[in-house]
Amino acid sequence: MKRTIRDLAELQGKVVLCRVEFNVPIDEAGRILDATRIIKAIPTIEYLSQKGAKVVLLSHLGRPNGYDIRQSLWPIAVLLMKKIKASVTFCNSVIGDEVKDRINAMKNGDVLLLENVRFYKGESECDMKFAKQIASLGQIFVDDAFGVAHRENASNFGVARLLPNAIGFLMEKELNALTTFMEKPKRPFVAVLGGSKVESKIKILNRFIEVADVLLIGGAMAYAFVSAQGKSTGLLNIQRENVEIAKGILEKAQALGKKILLPVDHACVRESDPKKNVIIVENIVKDMIGYDIGPKTVRLFSDEIAKAGQIFWNGPMGWYENSRFIKGTKGIAEAIAQAKGYTLVGGGDTAAAVNSFGFAKKIDYLSTGGGATMKFIENGSLPAIDVIQEKYI
Ligand code: ADP
Ligand code: 3PG
Ligand code: MG
Repeated sequence: MKRTIRDLAELQGKVVLCRVEFNVPIDEAGRILDATRIIKAIPTIEYLSQKGAKVVLLSHLGRPNGYDIRQSLWPIAVLLMKKIKASVTFCNSVIGDEVKDRINAMKNGDVLLLENVRFYKGESECDMKFAKQIASLGQIFVDDAFGVAHRENASNFGVARLLPNAIGFLMEKELNALTTFMEKPKRPFVAVLGGSKVESKIKILNRFIEVADVLLIGGAMAYAFVSAQGKSTGLLNIQRENVEIAKGILEKAQALGKKILLPVDHACVRESDPKKNVIIVENIVKDMIGYDIGPKTVRLFSDEIAKAGQIFWNGPMGWYENSRFIKGTKGIAEAIAQAKGYTLVGGGDTAAAVNSFGFAKKIDYLSTGGGATMKFIENGSLPAIDVIQEKYI
């Protein structure tokens, strides 16, 4: 069992570096479209603050290539200032003298949010020099960022190796929920997978086909499988490697006698149509591009969901942020909300979709992790959590 913040004895006056997961959908104007991940981190932040720690928050947002004002954490600082029962300030860098000065000026219980850690290239590479610079800012490290725990980044995996550490309340809750979910899966176990992070998620389906009974694949992920079936994906070019992985998964499913259902119709637009009217087709051809699953697929998938003992869902079924391509994701969200089986839904965007449809209360467990939940189901552990100290040593 991992050490949690409850096990940290002396917090009064200590600088606690707390990695949180504030990678939330934000629009061009800097408006936060779904604050779930931020709200769920508050209990840990307030606990540390109430224990008299100086709380320094670290997070990434998006996948920036160097500094990019559109991916600044400033809008999140503004929200925290309203939501947190403590004084919250923001610093527009992560390392260096300015940050040190700001920390020196903090009073016990204050909260300071640092800028997007991914503005520094050492973050994603887990450069230990960068991790050391971060670690030098504080005395204790708390990891509450479940959503990124599958990544070995400097501000989670790296810093944890350099400081006494523990997990936060959200991380603990997420781990408990997933462990229970996977301990004795209720059959049939139906996994619904979609989204756009195909590169980092498709390989994991090799494991899903072993642990689940039925896979329902939609979203951008589905096109690699459509291509693997020898069908056209129109204007969308699918990476050869992903098509090969998809082929392997389809063969493995057959060998194991497991069921994989793929979209039987698609919501597309034609590049040649100046009005870009949405058309529903069974086969994507020539100058078409698919952005959502079609109505027959929603019915096909919903029937499987209704029969499930437990359901896992990560990844929207289409480009749901665009109202013309919302129906697939909404239809599946509704089927999952109405399902009799136990439902666990995860992912920044998937949770945002479920919230926007008003179904959140009808989901048994809504996780903040997408890739992280998938990796946990694949391996039963996550690298950034593995490096956290055990409770009794
Ligand atoms: P999560 O955050 O829930 O883990 P991902 O980040 O993998 O999910 O994917 C979410 C994104 O995938 C959304 O922005 C959605 O618009 C996009 N998406 C899903 N299917 C498609 C598609 N067919 N075409 C374009 N975008 C898609
Ligand atoms: C997520 O939203 O899945 C996490 O924040 C991880 O983001 P990443 O895939 O860009 O590492
Ligand atoms: Mg996402």
